Amino acid sequence: MSCKIGIIGAGGMANYHIPGFRSAGAEVCAIADIRVDAAKAVAQKYDIKNVYGGVAEMFDKQPGLDAVSIITPNKFHKPLAIQALEHDKHVFCEKPPALDAADVLEMKTKAEEKGKTLMFDFNNRARPESRAMMQYITQDVVGRINSAQALWIRRTGIPGFGGWFTNKELSGGGPVIDLLHMIDLALYFMQYPAPAWVLGQTFADFIDDKSFKGPWGIPDVERGVTNVEAAAHAFVLFETGQVLSLRNSWAEMNKREEVSVVFQGRNAGGMVRRLFGIDGLDDTSIDTCELYVQENGRSVNRQIVVEPDETMGRLGAAANFVLALEGKEAPLNTPDEALKLMKIIDAIYGSAASGKPVQIQ
Ligand SMILES: NC(=O)c1ccc[n+]([C@@H]2O[C@H](COP(=O)([O-])OP(=O)(O)OC[C@H]3O[C@@H](n4cnc5c(N)ncnc54)[C@H](O)[C@@H]3O)[C@@H](O)[C@H]2O)c1
Repeated sequence: MSCKIGIIGAGGMANYHIPGFRSAGAEVCAIADIRVDAAKAVAQKYDIKNVYGGVAEMFDKQPGLDAVSIITPNKFHKPLAIQALEHDKHVFCEKPPALDAADVLEMKTKAEEKGKTLMFDFNNRARPESRAMMQYITQDVVGRINSAQALWIRRTGIPGFGGWFTNKELSGGGPVIDLLHMIDLALYFMQYPAPAWVLGQTFADFIDDKSFKGPWGIPDVERGVTNVEAAAHAFVLFETGQVLSLRNSWAEMNKREEVSVVFQGRNAGGMVRRLFGIDGLDDTSIDTCELYVQENGRSVNRQIVVEPDETMGRLGAAANFVLALEGKEAPLNTPDEALKLMKIIDAIYGSAASGKPVQIQ
């Protein structure tokens, strides 16, 4: 019997969730969006039979659903996940997991109480580069990773002015929370150590400057709220003594968009990096996946060749959710990891607000 999935929110990531779920043999039976026309358009494009103007109606009319995927603005991740878990559905939720760690703890507790799977779309873990690098890490070629640097830095990448992305109440914050993927990937490579201290700073220069608008995102909302950071820099010390430094920006004087994790292990260093083209993704993008070792008294750089994946793991991450439900693949992420990640994000904002390091309990 194939897994039956309902989509909540007709956001752009539906273009990856739906084919990703189907590639793993799941049936996408229904879609619900408070903007029913948006749901209808996606349903037509992907031949989804049942369309609803809200999730309550979907749960009512589709009792046979096994799971849902949540593709809505961040503020609604927690309430919708809790609602779905209450209906005994497994949940695949877009990133960020929620607005803050307290919300993620509630979601994790509810999933445990219901005995259901809760996973998040940390799609960069499903990239061929990340999967290859993780093999070297688990085979101990890399050794303990002492230190890592995570970057998702854009020069002109504000995803719309005044819409939900720039409204802290709806989004939880700016690029720290929106572009959390490389922080997550670095933590994943480091085996998700427990964070101890975080020192961070945020900057809001350019957040109102339309010349820093990205080539994608959502339409501007006139007189909407724009109260999030444009860039952030932080340093994390873990209980293990490992360290992570990170930079996230939508708008900052960077040469070009860079998305990378670089690490220094005891046996090898490494890098997974995409240098984006001038205007988002184009054929000037450069991907790198490398290991750095000392062999026979020489420095050796190993280039890991992987198949290109322009979706940055988005199809693979959705497929992994289905395969994990069926016990065919290990889940690519867990609620415990999401909770640690969100504690770090809360602490970056806390440190930026107080001007002091924040200790994580
Ligand atoms: N993993 C990635 O690479 C990636 C990329 C882009 C966006 N995202 C995430 O996807 C999510 C959606 O982003 P988007 O840009 O597609 O947003 P969007 O605003 O374009 O679409 C969100 C949709 O959710 C609907 N919605 C809102 N509240 C709802 C509710 N209570 N019930 C049902 N539907 C509801 C809206 O009507 C809208 O159609 C965000 O959390 C974002 O962070 C992830």
